[in-house]
Amino acid sequence: MYRTHHCAELRTTDIGKTVTLAGWVDSRRDHGGVIFIDLRDREGVTQIVFNPELNAELAAAAHALRSEYVIQVEGMVVARLSGTENKNLQTGGIEIQSSGLKVLNSSEVPPFPLDEDSVNEDLRLTYRYLDLRRPRMIHNLRIRHQALQAIRTYLDGERFFEIETPILFKSTPEGAREFLVPSRLNPKKFYALTQSPQQYKQLLMVGGIERYYQVAKCFRDEDLRADRQPEFTQIDLEMSFIDREDIYRLIEGLVAAVWKKTLNHEVSLPFPRVSFQEAMNTYGIDKPDRRFGLELVDLSDCFAQSQFKVFRSVLDAGGVVKAINAKGLADITQGQIEELTELAKSQGAKGLAWIKVEAGQWKSPIVKFFSEAEKAALTEKLNMEEGDLILFGADLWLSACEVLGQIRLKAADLLEQAGKMKRQEGVFDFFWVVDFPLLSFDKENQRYVATHHPFTSPVAEDVELLQTNPEKVRGQHYDLVLNGVELGGGSIRIHQGAIQEKLFTELLKIPADIAESRFGYMVRALKFGAPPHGGIALGFDRLVAILTGSSSIRDVMAFPKNNKGIDLMSQAPGEVEPRQLRDLYIQTKE
Ligand code: AMO
Ligand code: AMP
Repeated sequence: MYRTHHCAELRTTDIGKTVTLAGWVDSRRDHGGVIFIDLRDREGVTQIVFNPELNAELAAAAHALRSEYVIQVEGMVVARLSGTENKNLQTGGIEIQSSGLKVLNSSEVPPFPLDEDSVNEDLRLTYRYLDLRRPRMIHNLRIRHQALQAIRTYLDGERFFEIETPILFKSTPEGAREFLVPSRLNPKKFYALTQSPQQYKQLLMVGGIERYYQVAKCFRDEDLRADRQPEFTQIDLEMSFIDREDIYRLIEGLVAAVWKKTLNHEVSLPFPRVSFQEAMNTYGIDKPDRRFGLELVDLSDCFAQSQFKVFRSVLDAGGVVKAINAKGLADITQGQIEELTELAKSQGAKGLAWIKVEAGQWKSPIVKFFSEAEKAALTEKLNMEEGDLILFGADLWLSACEVLGQIRLKAADLLEQAGKMKRQEGVFDFFWVVDFPLLSFDKENQRYVATHHPFTSPVAEDVELLQTNPEKVRGQHYDLVLNGVELGGGSIRIHQGAIQEKLFTELLKIPADIAESRFGYMVRALKFGAPPHGGIALGFDRLVAILTGSSSIRDVMAFPKNNKGIDLMSQAPGEVEPRQLRDLYIQTKE
């Protein structure tokens, strides 16, 4: 037996027992010949003492130990000397008086100290196996495990089958960019790695499974960020004979079970629902962080007769003028204003008009165009006071909202950095965003695209508008949002083949032959008595990141890739042998 206890187990009630522990040398201290070792395993730390007066040979061996050596220690549990107890340690009341030591493995000097939090992330990822030994990482993976167990138990109780679906799938452009896998057995043909098991899970419903879930690996060749990885995990599920309300209830119960099990936190149910329209209008984003205000205010009424051409022309063209009041940000530098303007422009704005209220004056390049009445209306609607910074967006409604939505988030960051605002802490602001438009217009390609995905069903009472006013049709799509993060999304699906076919060819304008080769099997399946069905997928990495207070999902994944999609530990992706490429009928070009 390697050990009798783990390193967070022994208490003063165990004093007098002879025990064996095994783990890593967390630290070694030499107090005038007496060697103290903090022995660490997954569960925690126990202090071991080697006293040369009791056993000189053993103390000498302990003296030679170094950080991260793997050792096995035998000894007696004794009380720590009064005054030397460590309240921060579960085992802080005791120590082990060692009577035996075995070195199971030595270690090279670790490239970074394991007890520091500010280590460069690339270095941590290069030696991820060492990084994982840090209590913080072990904690994150423990919470991840507990969340997953809670989910499995909950869904089993709700009569779901856990079913695996293939990862090698067919390329079906319409979503994120895919990873392609050449087929050796079928020359010049490619699989795509599944972006999500969307089609398989619908086919499982056609197959009569009724309730499916999967802890699904998904692959998307996207630009990476703190909350995006090229491969990530979804809690993916699908149900038959249900409507939106059933999904809301199920997921609210699931989330409550996870928060209870991992944080012992009671989530308040049911989650509020916010329409897409309202989210965009008030926060300028479909996944608002509502832990702070800075809401968008509509000022179109104030400027209906304005002499300021920029606003007036937008209003005459059917657009809106909106603004946010970043209270206390008037001392922003000109450089920061320019950065905000660049941000607005990168979102498609033509500019970013602003007003600073400083020393009782409005400082701004545009107020000279404003009438007294307009100024009075602004002051009132925006509650303008000394120290305020007003930022304007004037455009068609959706564009103006989207621009100010990004400006709002950036202004919040600036206010937080300056210590003038704080997001509420310890708050879990869960809500559903509903009533998304089914279709959005893709200006670049001059056609409609599915807002969620092309299998989403329109809201029944809007179906008639499909012919006349497609942009007004709402989809039966829902997103779960938590603290400004899109935690999940799903929809009630189209379950009739003829309607699905029509959506592909008439609304999305996918030529019939292409629709047939890409989605023909889906349409066909729906024509064989597909039951009404719908589902959702939760981004599991994002969920665990929020549970653990991590700022990046990389901190809750055992082996993530960096922002360039590289596994720094193994250096994947790597080059391959010319012979391998030949087998796959692939030639690379310089
Ligand atoms: P969707 O594309 O919205 O829906 O994905 C569901 C959730 O997965 C998470 N997510 C990601 N997490 C980490 N890295 C990524 N690159 C990444 N992309 C997405 C998000 C997101 O909300 N098949 C549909 C679901 C359905 O309709 O049932 C789907 O995949 O948290
Ligand atoms: P201009 O008359 O183009 O110099 O614009 C005057 C001010 O209005 C500048 O600060 C611009 O950044 C800003 N501006 C221009 N177009 C818009 C717009 N669509 N929305 C908000 N501000 C704008």
